[in-house]
Amino acid sequence: CSPVILTSDASCDVRAGKINLPEFIVKCPAHCKETKQRVYGTGVFASISSICNAAIHSGVITNAGGKVIVKKMAGQNIYKGTNSNGVRSLSLPKWRESFAVHVGKPKKGVIYPSTLDYIPSRPTYETEALLPCPSLFPPSPCPSAYDPEPKSYPNPIPKPLPRCSRGTAAPENIGTGENYCKVDLAFLMDGSWSIGKRRFKIQKDFLAEVAQTINVGVAGPMMGVIQDDPITEISLKSYSSSRDVKAAVDKITQKGGQSNVGKALSYINKLYFSDATGNRGSAPNVVVVLVDGWPTDKVEEASRLARESGINIFFVTIEGPDENEKHNLVEANFVDKAVCRTNGFFSLPVSSWFGLRKAVQPLVKRVCDTDRLVCSKTCLNANDIAFVIDGSSSVGTGNFRTVLQFVANVTREFEISDTDTRVGAVQYTYEQRLEFAFGQYNNKAELLNAIKRINYWSGGTSTGAAITYAAEQLFSKSKPNKRKIMIVITDGRSYDDVRAPALAVHRQGVIAYSIGIAWAAQDELEYIATDPDKEHSYFVDEFDNLYKYVPKIIQNICQEFNSQPRN
Ligand SMILES: *[C@@H]1O[C@H](CO)[C@@H](O)[C@H](O)[C@H]1NC(C)=O
Repeated sequence: CSPVILTSDASCDVRAGKINLPEFIVKCPAHCKETKQRVYGTGVFASISSICNAAIHSGVITNAGGKVIVKKMAGQNIYKGTNSNGVRSLSLPKWRESFAVHVGKPKKGVIYPSTLDYIPSRPTYETEALLPCPSLFPPSPCPSAYDPEPKSYPNPIPKPLPRCSRGTAAPENIGTGENYCKVDLAFLMDGSWSIGKRRFKIQKDFLAEVAQTINVGVAGPMMGVIQDDPITEISLKSYSSSRDVKAAVDKITQKGGQSNVGKALSYINKLYFSDATGNRGSAPNVVVVLVDGWPTDKVEEASRLARESGINIFFVTIEGPDENEKHNLVEANFVDKAVCRTNGFFSLPVSSWFGLRKAVQPLVKRVCDTDRLVCSKTCLNANDIAFVIDGSSSVGTGNFRTVLQFVANVTREFEISDTDTRVGAVQYTYEQRLEFAFGQYNNKAELLNAIKRINYWSGGTSTGAAITYAAEQLFSKSKPNKRKIMIVITDGRSYDDVRAPALAVHRQGVIAYSIGIAWAAQDELEYIATDPDKEHSYFVDEFDNLYKYVPKIIQNICQEFNSQPRN
């Protein structure tokens, strides 16, 4: 029985499968990201994955390296590749062993083989050299025994803001999204000639104060600046401290020209939030637009596209148009058209330039309210959602009404239109029936009516065939810029096999949720659901409890939205 010894220069390519221990600590060197070692999965990784690259992908460490706890887990049937923190992981259908990574703080009661004894000259991490030390490794207690890192909060905000509930916290979530105010934040400055030197200076002072207040850092917010030409003044990854950002802001000079906010938002959407320029993937993208008066071009279309790709847009309008000036506007109500319609959360009108400073605190507070960001309209308006509804005899007429209520309640949360979210529905027994296709009803009232009118069918239960049918009838007609979401609702075991149909839709990029009621089979629910199952598979013992999962599904869809690779 030998202790785990890793050499510091070899560890970017260490694969978890090479180390035959249930739980151990690895110290990752810096710059593993550049080595592009293969990683398979998200949250839970196949054991052939590089530990250090998986740790960067999970947000447990940055590219600067650090200690990582590795915990082995059972093999999975599917590993889904995603893009996160600049590491693109791959998908894998099946592997015999998995692992998850956690922040490298040794856990009480567990004796680790070495934390870590570095012997730089002898790479001895081959399996053959190692035997497990069973007595040292008692079965690990449940994942909640990991205490997340204590959080630190920037000065003006006294307490942590409530987070979206993710249900029971799975171990693989630790280290992602746990940091306070972890946002990728860009400011679009108004550099047009019309505002003059003095007001340009007030803008710079404002940005400097925001940088100071928000506490820039790699574990928290990263901040950049674009001037309305558009031109990148400060990229997201340029500076990792408030002091450096402030110094860089101070050096910005006024570009002049017009205030083409629409054009600048397109630029930001296409070029600014790219992996190459520091988009972290795991952090919500936020752009704050500063406008003196009103823009000289239209903003609606560019804003919508930016929001659909996951960018949260805030507008700070300074000395906006009054009644007499409204006829001068290129686009009436440009702020309402640009931001999500969420009770003014995303717009901050400031009546005079001298009052701009007062907007720092409220703005920082909103920008850091990451729950509101991930739960904002951005995630509610770019989906094709297919409901696959079990109409078998065991459900019964009354319960079927409850299921339809559930479908309606979930639907009601989304922005419904051809360019926002579209909803389709399939009912199934032994057979399948298309109740309505994506886009058949393109406003909320009509859609809710159509849901209400679905007639209960009654018959057998072939869930597998129904999933295939949904893929053929609905998802084959999905639009490329929409996220494809399938929500399967069933109350019993399927007569046919769900595995192959489920795998096929997963491979098409459909995010699958399964909701089981009463006699639904747990194993089937898990086959249907996208990994991790905990976040995509729900079970209720009776129909009357279905309502409980409406907010959960919405939050999950929103949360996932921000962690998806941009297309
Ligand atoms: C749907 O929403 C209504 C109104 O909020 C609520 O009374 C009902 O219990 C909900 N039902 C389900 C199944 O979600």
